[in-house]
Amino acid sequence: MGAEPIGRNKWELDTPALCLDAAKLERNIARMAEYVLSRGIALRPHAKTHKCPTVAWMQLRAGAIGITCAKLSEAEVLAQAGIRDMLIANQVVGPDKVTRLAALATYTRVLVAVDDADNAEAISTAAVSRGVTVGVLVEVDVGMHRCGVPAGEPALALAQRVAALPGLRMEGLMGYEGQAVMIPDLAERTRVTREAMAQLIATRDLLLNAGLPVNIVSGAGTGTYAITGEVAGVTELQAGSYATMDARYRDLGAPFENALTVLARVVSVTAPDIAITDAGLKAMTTEFGMPALVGLEGWTVKGLAEEHGNLRRTGGRMLQRGEPVEFIPSHGCTTINLHDAFYVTRNDVVEAVWPIAARGCIR
Ligand SMILES: Cc1ncc(COP(=O)(O)O)c(C=O)c1O
Repeated sequence: MGAEPIGRNKWELDTPALCLDAAKLERNIARMAEYVLSRGIALRPHAKTHKCPTVAWMQLRAGAIGITCAKLSEAEVLAQAGIRDMLIANQVVGPDKVTRLAALATYTRVLVAVDDADNAEAISTAAVSRGVTVGVLVEVDVGMHRCGVPAGEPALALAQRVAALPGLRMEGLMGYEGQAVMIPDLAERTRVTREAMAQLIATRDLLLNAGLPVNIVSGAGTGTYAITGEVAGVTELQAGSYATMDARYRDLGAPFENALTVLARVVSVTAPDIAITDAGLKAMTTEFGMPALVGLEGWTVKGLAEEHGNLRRTGGRMLQRGEPVEFIPSHGCTTINLHDAFYVTRNDVVEAVWPIAARGCIR
């Protein structure tokens, strides 16, 4: 990064630089914490977004009961940072991974999503050989058609199997309504989310009637938290993006602030209406569209190449070579994963540099 960044104005940072506005982050974390408190439910925020132990600890201090991870390696990094309650909201499959999962459970409370009886057996065997207990949420496919057993009888059959296996603790159900989180129309998003969660709650009732424990019913993303959070029977939320936010969720109207930005610099001005920046695809992702520009009237992002951002002007003033520009990434989770650290700012002054310790943890 060159010169010591702490205490400097963020506009002086070498670029590209991933910035996190501390006050906005704090308000986002507080807002979600207040919401779950008002609903009498719990929050286990997804750390796949920020991949940063410092942010995870802020969420825990604000009342979160644990942290959700997408990958075992993320959970291992957070455990190294002292976090002791983790849900891996994903399938942990294969001999190496189930062995690591059992090892993690020797010093951390672990919950894992399971959608297959053979996988449950493999985790059970690994847990027994380490003398630990692994908590299980049976993952139900509530309409996203990614992982998960079908709702109803198939979920009941798997839950019965899990409950009978040594080394496993049947804790409940998980259903991620990913098909709904980005539906632009709120009424339609609400309808699809309620339909998804109705399947999860009906499955919960089936399990309860069969005498199985269902202590946890977990779901929700940032686009649906306030819908899923109203569904009677849902016990906890696992939204993640709300903390840092991104342009996609801003455009959807999620009531959180864009704390996350990427600072870049204009490196070339080849025409009055063209400016090229030093932040391209290796600094920001585009699977959810182009990043948004902050405070630059008349300019749009035409495209990103590996190391270049291509800006076009239809109005407003010209940009100068060397001038800093600020982007809001369209997708926070995958953009953060490209960077080593957050430059944490308050009133535009860098107050900390937080390592993104679980960056690249895809195993
Ligand atoms: C299993 C699971 N839970 C929750 C989320 C919610 O994340 P976000 O709040 O970033 O939409 C995701 C996002 O992909 C997910 O895969």
